Amino acid sequence: MKIFVDSANIEEIKGFKNLGLVDGVTTNPTLIAKEKGNFEDIIRTICAEVEGPVNAEVVSVDCDGIVKEARKIIPWGDNIVIKIPMTKEGLKAVNVLSKEGIKTNVTLIFTAAQALLAAKAGATYVCPFVGRLDDLSQIGMEIVGQMAEVFSIYNEIKTEIIVASIRSPLHVMDAALVGAHIVTIPAKVIEQMFNHPLTDKGVEKFLKDAGK
Ligand code: E4P
Repeated sequence: MKIFVDSANIEEIKGFKNLGLVDGVTTNPTLIAKEKGNFEDIIRTICAEVEGPVNAEVVSVDCDGIVKEARKIIPWGDNIVIKIPMTKEGLKAVNVLSKEGIKTNVTLIFTAAQALLAAKAGATYVCPFVGRLDDLSQIGMEIVGQMAEVFSIYNEIKTEIIVASIRSPLHVMDAALVGAHIVTIPAKVIEQMFNHPLTDKGVEKFLKDAGK
């Protein structure tokens, strides 16, 4: 399973890259808005730092606008993936872009049916948001299990699942267990994944005993 960093912060991304943890990056307009600088500079900087896919999201809502925006973003890096919201116009744009060999990620997916349509339209990736479903008392990971099962039945579907809206290490492990290809994780949750009090206690005891 691949790990993407769900962040537009270059220092966070670099820190995890030094640990060998970064297979790619996802951003969205909310993450970009938290950083200094403009969208283009932020995406260009991330693309130069990371070898794997870097997801940059469009804000146009009609097919022509999305395609135009995508064509503007593509030259910013060799590893760009165009992130497009799950709408009819969005899927129309995915269909156009995928025929040109442009990689796309259909985002804001909340059902397996939406994921199936996105895959049929030619999406390289689909992005189910598990945390936002959990927030509404619906078990988000269930839809990931469903789409993983459907995608594995049909060999012609090459679309990969990026599980997003991750809130805890448990989400990451559940995504891995249901067979997601990729999990995109915010820095806070990656930090949480390192920790266990028994590890700290064990290190402390070994250091103490080594000094005896
Ligand atoms: C990533 O691709 C998504 O945009 C992100 O994981 C959404 O996370 P949130 O639900 O915490 O905003």
